[in-house]
Amino acid sequence: MTLSVLGIACSPRRNGNTTSLLLEAMKTAQHEGHRTELVYLSDLHITPCQGCNACSAKGICIINDDLLKLQEKLIQADRFIIAAPIFFMGVNGQTKIMIDRMQTFWARKYLHHQSLIKPSGPERIGLFLSTAGTEKVDVFKCAERSIQTFFHMLDIKYAQPCLFPGIDQAGEIIQHQTAFDDVRKATQALTIS
Ligand SMILES: Cc1cc2nc3c(=O)[nH]c(=O)nc-3n(C[C@H](O)[C@H](O)[C@H](O)COP(=O)(O)O)c2cc1C
Repeated sequence: MTLSVLGIACSPRRNGNTTSLLLEAMKTAQHEGHRTELVYLSDLHITPCQGCNACSAKGICIINDDLLKLQEKLIQADRFIIAAPIFFMGVNGQTKIMIDRMQTFWARKYLHHQSLIKPSGPERIGLFLSTAGTEKVDVFKCAERSIQTFFHMLDIKYAQPCLFPGIDQAGEIIQHQTAFDDVRKATQALTIS
């Protein structure tokens, strides 16, 4: 079955570690015969959630920016690959700003009891790719919690993530012994239908 795979590059560094891993994942998904779409978060204009709760009324955000287009893609795709670095022990700001704006989906789901997805579609599964400069214990814990909550909100099952500590400079991930192979395997597992 041909799946629609949405990749979101969340790092501001286009030549960075997480984006390199994501590009490998997208190449793998294409090779497996799936449709892929890659979005660079840094290309989008996304305003932070203002906490105004206007979305509580009808499940519609009153901020008219690029997030609306991204939300449509998040509704339509079957598989998701989120590539985001660790900044200050959590996901980087660009990623968190995107996630906070999912409050609209929270309102639709829990206040308005609306289904966000096509009932007959394939199971939705998401893969989280991340790198961190340090090898601190629990360096990915906070980020994983945010991504898991984001996925849960969108009825996306959380796949075994690919997390690489001790990777700091842009491009350093290339020297990692297994990272690209790990990502290829995780993407193959993700896209088995
Ligand atoms: C503002 C900023 C904050 C960071 N905070 C952390 C941190 O708290 N812990 C850590 O291990 N690495 C931290 N790093 C290092 C990044 O996680 C690391 O460089 C990562 O590989 C970047 O991925 P990218 O190349 O995809 O952007 C930080 C980097 C920046 C720029």
